[in-house]
Amino acid sequence: MPQSLHDEHHDHQTLKFPDGFLWGSATSAHQVEGNNKNNDWWEWEQNHQPPHLRSGQACDQYNRYAEDFDLIKNLNHNAHRLSIEWSRIEPKEGEFDPLEIEHYKKVLKALKDRGITVMLTLWHVTLPKWVADRGGWENGKTPAYFERFIRKIVPEIGEYVDLWITLNEPGVYIYETYIARVWPHSKKSWFGQVKTFLNLTSAHKRVYKYLHSLFPAGKPVGIANNILSFESYHKHSIKEQLAVFFSDLFSNHLFYFATRGTHDFLGINYYFHIRIKGDGLIPHAQGVIQQLHDASDLGWELFPEGIFEVLTDFADGLPIYITECGIASTNDDRRNRFLIAYLQEVARAIKSGVNVRGFFYWSLIDNFEWHMGFEFRFGLIEIKSQTLERRIRPSALVYTDIIQHNGIPHSLLRFIGHTVQAGEVLEKRYKEIEKEIK
Ligand code: FCB
Repeated sequence: MPQSLHDEHHDHQTLKFPDGFLWGSATSAHQVEGNNKNNDWWEWEQNHQPPHLRSGQACDQYNRYAEDFDLIKNLNHNAHRLSIEWSRIEPKEGEFDPLEIEHYKKVLKALKDRGITVMLTLWHVTLPKWVADRGGWENGKTPAYFERFIRKIVPEIGEYVDLWITLNEPGVYIYETYIARVWPHSKKSWFGQVKTFLNLTSAHKRVYKYLHSLFPAGKPVGIANNILSFESYHKHSIKEQLAVFFSDLFSNHLFYFATRGTHDFLGINYYFHIRIKGDGLIPHAQGVIQQLHDASDLGWELFPEGIFEVLTDFADGLPIYITECGIASTNDDRRNRFLIAYLQEVARAIKSGVNVRGFFYWSLIDNFEWHMGFEFRFGLIEIKSQTLERRIRPSALVYTDIIQHNGIPHSLLRFIGHTVQAGEVLEKRYKEIEKEIK
């Protein structure tokens, strides 16, 4: 720990997190690996997205994973969330590629060799092309295909994994494919949506059961669910309150209701605070720009209190991991303030009794943001477009500072609510930490 950086007088005021708290970041295979040519996304990109919005070599993490994991280690993270790519391992139905299985063993072992706790996502948005060609998650056989894949891969890699995420954001998947229709397969079908939802619940339940039978001594299993904080625009509007109630029910709780009893923890991805306005026939989300609130480069409102609200809402006894939370911004000072302000709210939730066990910042590196390509920069580490060179952002060092204290030191807390260029003031601090972690 860089003692020189402590404000000794205020160290006792560090906002502490529980012992054993997991500190890390998250990625997913298709967004960082590059050249995932056997999945539905690759095909979609070639046919529906202009060249600059195609994943291509992405961050080439498939080849550069050791370099990235060294950075994780040097930044003092003690955990990491990543996913495996089904389409690499089973490129054709029932044909498993031994070289790809070997590859993922090496990847996961590389994390363990660096002393990192591994949270592994088994399905994160993409499907092998052969599965997509048969209707993807709409097909009643897909949960069985998925289970067959899991039964093949998990015995090979299980020893390197500490926590399992069966599925990433089932609700977002349904929204983006059937409602926004910006993700493959992009169809309008109410019936298809319902089938997809039911098949995803069935896939989760099957895999949960299998993982429990394989690791009776316990390797916790959960999902990563996108949880939004909803609010009515007018406090007195019953119409808006009702819209909030149903939005919260469908987006945040439905999957959990349908899969009750098959979660060892709750994985929360938190990005959104939505104000619902009811001035038209159908209540709608009021954009943030009109509200003059701080927003990310994607226009997503920055609302730290929202993470406190969703954490307290989900505090039903199961441990909670924040499996994703992050900001797209080319202004790294904004990311500094984001980290400090959001983590302060997490600390407040813990203090009020919520059992939060870990935080995974999205994302470790700038990466392929699906239909929006590479423009939006979520990374603690910058990826240079042409060379793919990695460059640690100052905010990564603020995060490291927090990790080293297992809490938010007083000297960082004073930046909350300030629109000052915290980066300038913190410059000395970064330099010291940079030296320390080298
Ligand atoms: C989440 C996804 C993740 C990434 C972030 C920004 O919804 O799980 O893959 O796209 O949003």
